[in-house]
Amino acid sequence: MTAHLDPALAQAAPGGVLVVDFGAQYAQLIARRIRECRVFSAVIPHDMPPEEIAELHPMGLVLSGGPSSVYAAEAPGLNPEFLRLGIPVLGICYGMQAMTQALGGTVERTGAAEFGKTDLSVLSRAGLLREFPAETCWMSHNDSVTRPPDGFSVSAQTAGAPVAAMEDAERRLYGVQFHPEVVHTPFGTDLLKAFLFDACDCTPTWTPVHVIEDQVERIRAQVGDTEHVICALSGGVDSAVAALLVHKAVGDRLTCIFVDHGLLRQGEAEQVEEAFGDHFHVPLIHVKAKDHFLSELAGVTDPETKRKIIGREFIRTFERESATLGGVRFLVQGTLYSDVIESGSKHADKIKSHHNVGGLPEDMAVELVEPLRQLFKDEVRVVGAELGLPEKMVWRQPFPGPGLAIRIIGEVTADRLEILRRADYVLQEEVRRAGLYRDLWQSFAVLPAVKSVGVQGDERTYAYPVVIRAVTSDDAMTADWARLPYDLLERVSNRIINEVPGVNRVALDITSKPPGTIEWE
Ligand code: XMP
Repeated sequence: MTAHLDPALAQAAPGGVLVVDFGAQYAQLIARRIRECRVFSAVIPHDMPPEEIAELHPMGLVLSGGPSSVYAAEAPGLNPEFLRLGIPVLGICYGMQAMTQALGGTVERTGAAEFGKTDLSVLSRAGLLREFPAETCWMSHNDSVTRPPDGFSVSAQTAGAPVAAMEDAERRLYGVQFHPEVVHTPFGTDLLKAFLFDACDCTPTWTPVHVIEDQVERIRAQVGDTEHVICALSGGVDSAVAALLVHKAVGDRLTCIFVDHGLLRQGEAEQVEEAFGDHFHVPLIHVKAKDHFLSELAGVTDPETKRKIIGREFIRTFERESATLGGVRFLVQGTLYSDVIESGSKHADKIKSHHNVGGLPEDMAVELVEPLRQLFKDEVRVVGAELGLPEKMVWRQPFPGPGLAIRIIGEVTADRLEILRRADYVLQEEVRRAGLYRDLWQSFAVLPAVKSVGVQGDERTYAYPVVIRAVTSDDAMTADWARLPYDLLERVSNRIINEVPGVNRVALDITSKPPGTIEWE
């Protein structure tokens, strides 16, 4: 085996299908859709040597989409050897165009770009489109394949794409211009299944529980037999699952450090102590650093500066604590795929610097262990439940590393924190009581930096509004605002205004993502 081949990937890949990343936001989504079909999948870089791919013995390859034109100077190239490995290959969007170019077909900018829902005419149902009754698909392209390579037949077209799907059954090479991995392409999963089970002959035996075995192996290989590890425990499901995986791999060589930055929701610090200290008996250090964080944040109003400060102080605190443990080399973080992509990969554009990725200081003296980096939230929950994490933590809504600080617009002070924490607590309580907690991806309160006039009793008030933000989502990459019942909104509004001093108005955020982000900062 090649020395630098990832051992966990080497173990899991045979029988699976690998997704070659050409810089698309959708590469991990394709892998996740394949895993949903119970076939192992992971993303590999487009410049991986073909011999290494061959050593992984995948059943097939999917070439992802990408943001560039195949003619752009910086366009990531497709190594033609990928098409000669003797395994089926499916090119999606840019992946199909790169395949066309590599095999001598023609890709052109015809001026007929297509974005969004597009009518599709299926010309042949003999091959991959056999189980694909759809008459529309989801498109996102400027360039089009205008002449397929020799040996290919065109199986579908749209008004703007003369080759919307093509295949060469003999070489088992397939291409689709549209995106079968997004929910907006009806029957997209059926098309992927036809590729996985008919073309690649995969067996649907993989489950998210395999992640445990794969990751335990990967962690042991990274950390070795003697080194010590600390974990960035936040109380959320991500860092909890990451910690338990590492604990399974290295036992008591893991110490969890819980930096209580004072920006958590009500009652959360206690929950962490209870679960990890009392229940799992993982060595736990609870650092109470609220005053320090507040003094570092004094006078700061810029969102990115807040994130950077909190990220920096968070890691510095870890470094100080780890020094007291003596020579810790590794730091565990519960970074998910959505955190990675939002912070900008090599090709995808940066949207925000997430504190557990982009906010890390460059002089940090520890190496990261990130066992959840390829997973989506719902996959992490399945793994957490399997590891025995209490139901309450498994189903906890996501909470950002910088905590309430990025939900307080303007300066973060002890008083404003207290207002937001109390309002948020009311909202959490009512959402749970209404039985909606699990249906919502996130529900929380935001404290803007404006005041408005109100009247309470006979008195004029001049106080803050609180904004309610509740969204539904599958993976945080897109989200819709939740249609909360009016009676719930009424109870929340009444209770917040009656129970939280300093608030005289409640508003509801009805923005989807995009164009809004989920958090306000
Ligand atoms: P946005 O606001 O970018 O958030 O739509 C997407 C998801 O990520 C969470 N989030 C974070 N999580 N560290 C985290 O661990 C962070 O710095 C961070 N910022 C946002 C956010 O709550 C939502 O679920």
